[in-house]
Order: sequence, then structure tokens, then C-alpha cells
Amino acid sequence: MRVLVVGGGGREHALAWKLSQEAEVFSAPGNPGIAQIAETFPVRADNEEGMVALCEQIAPEVVLVGPENPLLAGLGDRLRARGVSVFGPSAAAAALEGSKAWAKEQMLVAGVPTAHHQSFRDFDAAVAYAASRFDGGRQVAVKASGAALGKGVVVAQTHEEARDALEAMLVDREHGEAGATVVVEDALVGREFSLLALVSETEVRCLPVAQDYKRALDGDHGPNTGGMGSVSPVSWLTEDLVARAEREVIVPIVRHLAAQGLDYRGCLFAGLLVEDGTPYCLEYNVRFGDPETQSIVRRLGPGFAQAILDVAEGRPIGAIEVTRDAAVSVVVASGGYPGTIETGFPIDIGPMPEGVEIFHAGTASLDGCLVTAGGRVFAVSAVGSTVADARERAYAGGAQVGFAGAWCRRDIGACTKGQSASRQTD
Ligand SMILES: Nc1ncnc2c1ncn2[C@@H]1O[C@H](COP(=O)(O)OP(=O)(O)O)[C@@H](O)[C@H]1O
Ligand SMILES: [Mg+2]
Repeated sequence: MRVLVVGGGGREHALAWKLSQEAEVFSAPGNPGIAQIAETFPVRADNEEGMVALCEQIAPEVVLVGPENPLLAGLGDRLRARGVSVFGPSAAAAALEGSKAWAKEQMLVAGVPTAHHQSFRDFDAAVAYAASRFDGGRQVAVKASGAALGKGVVVAQTHEEARDALEAMLVDREHGEAGATVVVEDALVGREFSLLALVSETEVRCLPVAQDYKRALDGDHGPNTGGMGSVSPVSWLTEDLVARAEREVIVPIVRHLAAQGLDYRGCLFAGLLVEDGTPYCLEYNVRFGDPETQSIVRRLGPGFAQAILDVAEGRPIGAIEVTRDAAVSVVVASGGYPGTIETGFPIDIGPMPEGVEIFHAGTASLDGCLVTAGGRVFAVSAVGSTVADARERAYAGGAQVGFAGAWCRRDIGACTKGQSASRQTD
């Protein structure tokens, strides 16, 4: 099987690594890590013409689109119109990620549990609504409806904070058009996890659950990042909660989209928050999560490449084994991230302990030398018989990666209060 992986981040390296066990992998643009396991082509993920031409050149049986932006722009539709099998939804279905306001409407119609909300384009109306929720004893999350690079959500503790966030989005247009519509929703309180499913039209196959770590500093402090690490499984989740999330959050939206003629072929990602024992949907993404994927693929056995092809062709999805007990991925970042960073530092990689893979995210090849080229440079991903075992190996692997200014969170996969009380599950 010939698979083209579109994209060049840590998620795409992890996917290419898994696929390369069962398929011949090509990637565009790829990265230096992907180039070790696949043939790479210097075509940017947003270059639709270039991707069409590349597909003609290499004739892949399936194209897996990693990032959301090409999907939102219609790369899936464009390639499918040319007879190419694509893993990734149409632009119309990708609006589930591209418009949080539209996604909330779909959740309501489909009966998906989600926070009470209203959408606004008018500043005064939005402020008045937020005030009414605070008066009722709630806090609110203010969300730019469009794609805002993961920086478009403010969970406001006071009415003033909500007002400031609304002003920045609706009046000052801090996120441009992405913030021209905002969703104001009740803030929920609880823990979060991610549930990713392969969706082949109306058929759903959930992958092992994962949790990511979005804040920069230990203990979930500091600014938001693209993700500082991930763990799978999630020790505080019960099987029942995961089954409910599949039944109440994934399945109804897939059926609802299909009923509207929006056939979904790709990965559907639900960001969930458990409040008082109920899993609520915070958002949908229309692609694999980064860095969740770096842990999830480590737990998969044979069948993944076939399943990707099945989804792209809209067939029933073949079985995928879940083999490993636990995976932990630790992101090694550049000094200063998520603020201003410098790049171009030479990277040393020593021998990795057993069970460890390193997935490149922000690296480049300069005169045959590997150098830093982004904020998140690697994910060091380990498997083990327990989360604690995987965690120890991941940090041992991380210690083998060196460049000026390298740092990581120290608490990825650490057992936090209450986590050990419940049974581990997928
Ligand atoms: N209703 C909510 N209640 C509490 N926290 C929320 C709520 N909505 C979002 N958040 C917080 O903000 C983060 C980002 O929101 P999300 O909807 O996932 O948007 P995005 O990932 O596009 O930034 C969530 O992971 C969660 O921590
Ligand atoms: Mg999110």
C-alpha cells in the first residue's frame, strides 16, 4: 500500500512511523524525522495545486491529511474530485472544527451534551449575555468561532475578564475574521480528555483515549501551548465514561452529519470535560490531535494502515489491535517557547532506551546537520507496561536529546491526586 501523509509536524511523523510498519509511506512536506522512514517532497500542506500534481506523480492509494487548515480549505474535496482516496473530511464537514458556532448548533440538534451557550457578532449583546450568566452564578468561556491557532479561547473568571475578551475579539479583531463571531458558553469544571475516532461515513471506531497537557508549566500553570505532552490511557477515566463519550458525543454527531449528506471520512476528535460524572463536548477537531497521536499510535498493533485505507474508501473499518499497555510522550521545546524563540541550534541525539521513539516536530536539516527550527522540537514517546514505566522511559529518552535551551515539562504522565483511585481503561 502506498500512503501519502500531508503535513510535517510531530503528529505526521507519528502517523508516518506507524504506517511505515505496514505500507510504503510518502510525505509532503514531511520533516527530517519523517525523511528517515519515507520519501519526502517539498510541497507545502497548503499548496493544493502542488498536492494534486504530487498525487499524479506518485499515485498513492490513500492520502492522509494531517493538519486542519488544508481540510478547511477543501484539499479533501479537491483530491477526491480527481479520484484520489482521501483520509480527511470535506470542507463542509470540516466546519465542525472551522466554526465553533456552527459546531455548537450541530451538537444541540444532535443531542450531544455540551455547555449552555449563545453565539454573537454584536459586542453589546455578547456582554449583556455574559453578564446574565455571571449573575446566574456561572463563569463563561469566550471563544473565537473561527480557526485561531488554539489561542482563541478565554475562560473568564469575572464579568470584566469576559468583557475584555469580547472586546479583543469582536471590536479589536485580535484574531481577525476568526473572531468576528464568538461563542459565549458556561464554564464547566472538571477534568479533560481526548477521544479520537476513525469515521468511515456512519461507522465509528474509537482509538485508545488520551490526555494532553496544554499549559507550559508543571501542575498546569503558565501560558497555553500547542501541547507539552500526552498520555494514554488516562488513569482517572472509567470504561463507562469512555463508552458514554463514544455513545453520546461521537456517534450522534456522525449520524447527524450523514443525515445532512455530509459524509465524514477521517479522524473525528472530541475534546471532552467530565463534570459531575458526565462527559461534555468542549469541541470537535476534524483530524488527529497533536500531541495525543504521538502516544496513541504507540499503543496500536497491526491493522492501522488498512483501517486508514478503509476509511478513505468509505468501507467498514478493519480491526486494529491495541497492543501496548501505556504510552507517554514528552515534548522537548526551545527556550522561550511559547513566547519568542531562537532557532538554528545544533541537536545531539544519544542512544534511546528500549521502547522509546522520537518524533520530530520543529527540526530542520542544515548542511547535513540537524538543527532546531520551531518551538516544539520533538516528542519523546515511550511505551511501558504501566504509565509510570512509560513515563520513566520517556524522561530517560528526553535526557538523550540535547540542544541549547532545551526544556520540557517534568510532570507528563505523573499520577495526580485522585488518578490512582479509579481503574485504568481505554
Ligand atoms: N466550557 C468550558 N468550560 C471550561 N473550560 C473550557 C470550556 N471551553 C473551553 N475550555 C478550556 O479551554 C481550552 C480550549 O478550548 P477548546 O474549545 O478546546 O478550543 P481550542 O482547542 O480550539 O482552543 C479547553 O481545553 C479547556 O481547557
Ligand atoms: Mg481544544
